[in-house]
Amino acid sequence: METPNVMKQNEHYNMNSTPQLTAIQKSFAYIERAVQEHTADTSSTSQPFFIADYGCSHGANSLVAINAIIQAFQQRYALTNEICVIFNDLYTNDWTTVFQTVIANASTRKFFSLATGTSFYEQILPTGSVQFGYTSTALHWLSKKPCNLSKHCYSLAGQSTDEEMKLWREQAATDYRLFLEQRSKELKKGGIFLSVTLSRNHLNDTGNLPIYHNLYRSAKAVLSDEDELLNFNIQGYYRSIDEQTDPDVLKELNLELICADIHSLQHPIYEEYRSKQITLEEAIDKYTEFVRSWSESSFLSCLRKDRTDEERMDTVNRFWKAFKDELREKGMENFQRNPFRSYIILRKL
Ligand SMILES: C[S@@+](CC[C@H](N)C(=O)[O-])C[C@H]1O[C@@H](n2cnc3c(N)ncnc32)[C@H](O)[C@@H]1O
Repeated sequence: METPNVMKQNEHYNMNSTPQLTAIQKSFAYIERAVQEHTADTSSTSQPFFIADYGCSHGANSLVAINAIIQAFQQRYALTNEICVIFNDLYTNDWTTVFQTVIANASTRKFFSLATGTSFYEQILPTGSVQFGYTSTALHWLSKKPCNLSKHCYSLAGQSTDEEMKLWREQAATDYRLFLEQRSKELKKGGIFLSVTLSRNHLNDTGNLPIYHNLYRSAKAVLSDEDELLNFNIQGYYRSIDEQTDPDVLKELNLELICADIHSLQHPIYEEYRSKQITLEEAIDKYTEFVRSWSESSFLSCLRKDRTDEERMDTVNRFWKAFKDELREKGMENFQRNPFRSYIILRKL
């Protein structure tokens, strides 16, 4: 089933997501800080201790975060409660891979696991049940496309009209508020939410526009149908720190801001290339699979429904060939940045 925003199936995301893993590794210090700031009641040992990851994808990166969260809690409280981890993603996610990944981790696993395919823009868990909520590199995906973009596939590429920009900004604000409202309902009083998200810095820089320019140029090279090109939009939006920490919204939702930082991270694929661990061709292949993992569903969903499977496959193959050609032509130096990530800790009042 083709829905935009969902990662490429068959373990593809697990195998091609080291840049996203880097963002999770950077969150370890924030996890420790967040656990120190946790003030929810833990005295009832008969109650499960709920930890949730929103937008877990295929599970491998998610488990790294979950293990760090459990370790930090064990160090602080020596918990005797049974721990229950909830893995959340869209229902179209590759859940078979999630289950396989979690089961494969069973020998080191110190928790019970549940999975839910409800959108994180809805309430997913019972009111006042969650001790610690976490999300990484997922919250930039909007619940819907507010309008097609006439000149690019990405709203923040500097090509959107004022009206387009306004609609995308408003959609991002509405979605963000809704997301926090649901998490606020789910959190226990004194519970913590840690959000790691793709963001814009104070100069409005996302850190990775060359990827989006390349995606759009590649689409233009292979799509002769104007409607298909118009429909090809990446349904994501990188919010600024201000957009994520509006004091009025936080107050209304009974959330207290503990910290909000932004970091520029190294890109592990570029670093492997720069330090000569991989050749240029290997870097081009790896980088393309990394981008393919999160953007191919957006490309597929813009193709006309009357295209045959053969045509679709041929178009997708030509699209990724054009993408690789551009990497070769521009050079990997142009694609060396991992986008800015914000690290925001919130506590439920
Ligand atoms: C780039 S992956 C991040 C996976 C993992 N957290 C990591 O850091 O590697 C983003 C995930 O968010 C999920 N996602 C997007 N919109 C969602 C929604 N409304 N509800 C739940 N998950 C969503 C996608 O399906 C995808 O698996």
